[in-house]
Amino acid sequence: MIRIPVLRKLWAFRTDAMPELRNPAIRDYVYRAFFTQNATSKQTSVGRFSDLDRLARSIILEHRLADIHDVGVSSGVTSLELLHALATTGIPLSFHISDKYAVYGSSGRFLVRIVDAQGSVRELYVGSLLGTRDVTYKFPVTRFLYWLLARRPIHGPVRSFVLFDHEVLEHIRAGLVRRIDYDVFTTRMPGAFSFVRCMNLLNLGYFPRESIETGLRNLIESLKEGGVLQIGRTHPDGVSHATFYRKRGNRLEMLQDVGRGTEVRELIDRLH
Ligand SMILES: C[S@@+](CC[C@H](N)C(=O)[O-])C[C@H]1O[C@@H](n2cnc3c(N)ncnc32)[C@H](O)[C@@H]1O
Repeated sequence: MIRIPVLRKLWAFRTDAMPELRNPAIRDYVYRAFFTQNATSKQTSVGRFSDLDRLARSIILEHRLADIHDVGVSSGVTSLELLHALATTGIPLSFHISDKYAVYGSSGRFLVRIVDAQGSVRELYVGSLLGTRDVTYKFPVTRFLYWLLARRPIHGPVRSFVLFDHEVLEHIRAGLVRRIDYDVFTTRMPGAFSFVRCMNLLNLGYFPRESIETGLRNLIESLKEGGVLQIGRTHPDGVSHATFYRKRGNRLEMLQDVGRGTEVRELIDRLH
C-alpha cells in the first residue's frame, strides 16, 4: 500500500497486469477509467445485465439460437454471465466474443508504454506511478511526462496481451468461448450469427449518427434470418435499457423493450 497521499493518487494499476487481476472491485474500477483510441470507455461490471440475461435466455431458448456473438465486450465478464445463464438450455452453443480494442502491447521495464493495435500509446508508467488515466487531468506532471515520453521510439520487444478478465481467457483456452476480430463499423460477416448482443457500444454519446447507422447495418447483416439483436445502454444509475429485435428479411421486428428500450430505436426504424 502506498502511504504518501500524493504518490497514492499518482499510482495506477498497470493495464498489462489486468489479465492477472483476481479482485473484481479493482478490476471494475480500472476498466471504468480506461478509454480506447476512439474515446469509448471500457466500463463494464459483473451483474449489470442480470435481468436482461434472463430475458435473453428465454428468447434464445424459444427460437433455438445457437450462434451467439457478444460485441464490444470490454473485459468479457458480462459475456461469461450470459454464457452461464445459457448453460442449462441444452442448445449446443457456439459462443463468440469480440472487442476492437482487446489486444494491446506493452514495452519497456522501467518506462512502460501500453500501445494499442493501431500503434498508439494509450498509457505510460514509470514503474507503477504516473499512469495516464484519470489522474492525468488532476496532475499536469503526468500530462507533461506523457507528452515527453509517449512519442519516443520504441526499441525493445512489445509483449502483447489480451485485455480480458482471467476467467474469460480460461474459457477461451478451454474452447468454450471464441474470440473473433470484429470492428462494428468495418467488419462484415453476413448471416454468421443467430443472436447478437451489442450493449454500451453504439451509444449516441459515443459516435455520430451516421457511424451508428453503419454499425447497425453491419450487426443486422451479421444475423441469420430469424436471428435476434439485443441492443442497449446502461445509464449512470446502473439501470440498463435495451430492445430485442428479430430479423425478418431486411427488416427488424421489435420483440421486446426493457426499460425505455434502446436509444437508437429511431435510427433502426429509419434503416427500413
Ligand atoms: C463501454 S464498453 C461495453 C462493454 C460491455 N458490452 C458492457 O456493456 O458491459 C465498450 C467497448 O466497446 C469497444 N469498442 C470500441 N469501439 C469498437 C468498435 N469499433 N468495434 C467493436 N468494439 C469496439 C471498447 O473497446 C469497449 O471495450
